[in-house]
Amino acid sequence: MRDSRETFVNHAFVTGYPIKHSRSPLIHGYWLKQLGLEGSYRAHEVSPEAFPDFIASLKNGKSGYAGGNVTIPHKELAFALSDRPDDLSDELGASNTLWVEDGLVHATNTDGHGFTANLDERAPGWDHCQTAVILGAGGASRAVIQAVRDRGVKTIHVVNRTAARAQELADRFGPAVHAQPTEALSEVMKDAGLFINTTSLGMDGAVVPEIDFTTMKADSIVTDIVYVPLKTPILAQAEAQGFAIVDGLGMLLHQAAPGFEKWFGKRPVVDATLRQIIIDDM
Ligand code: ATR
Repeated sequence: MRDSRETFVNHAFVTGYPIKHSRSPLIHGYWLKQLGLEGSYRAHEVSPEAFPDFIASLKNGKSGYAGGNVTIPHKELAFALSDRPDDLSDELGASNTLWVEDGLVHATNTDGHGFTANLDERAPGWDHCQTAVILGAGGASRAVIQAVRDRGVKTIHVVNRTAARAQELADRFGPAVHAQPTEALSEVMKDAGLFINTTSLGMDGAVVPEIDFTTMKADSIVTDIVYVPLKTPILAQAEAQGFAIVDGLGMLLHQAAPGFEKWFGKRPVVDATLRQIIIDDM
């Protein structure tokens, strides 16, 4: 008799509002083809008003989805409406990956994994640094702070234009995280082995203030979570000052892998061809 699992085909989504610029369908489509799987992954636009009904349709099976990814502006609501958020989601108050099991929606957040897996690949040993500086205190910054702390970085300085948001993160994450005023940037950089930009500084074409990276140790790594352009203004500055840089594209690719494994049953690999496919699409 034929094993019914052989013919089981799963479907997954990425939802956001808007969603048409998402590169996730390209990523998952590449892996489905590479692994010879018959499932599907598609962009499914859902407005904030319709989002609770969308989650309900996952639970009652009417959507036909095994799960999917959630992006701006739904990450907080996805967390709040899920039945089984994991500890990572709980601490962040936001989820980007959902899967359905026995009518219950499970939720996790893979952004932090994406961030650290990218550094593991391109700057192995990065986690030996004791101190990191993070520029920015938005939603993306939270996942990065959590991931870096969980990998053992002892001191994390958060520098943000709006001081209150940095302080909120220090309160949320506890003693390893320190909110610092913008004026303290060069001072706190002296001890850091890792500099992370999580802001959209320069993306609007505005001139980015010059950052003096040379106060950091010579073997420090500078990375950005923005990947369009691949070499952001901050990475370009750091490279010109002689520092090793890691762009943010790998974070996008690696954050996708755990969800794919949940929905389609196989762990995919982030390879150079996939990276090139996304670069060609930019
Ligand atoms: P995300 O969820 O992608 O992190 P966000 O919550 O809007 O997005 O956060 C964007 C981050 O970039 C914030 O830290 C923001 O600083 P504020 O908290 O002061 O708004 C930062 N940012 C954006 N544009 C900036 C600019 N021109 N100068 C300095 N910081 C900027």
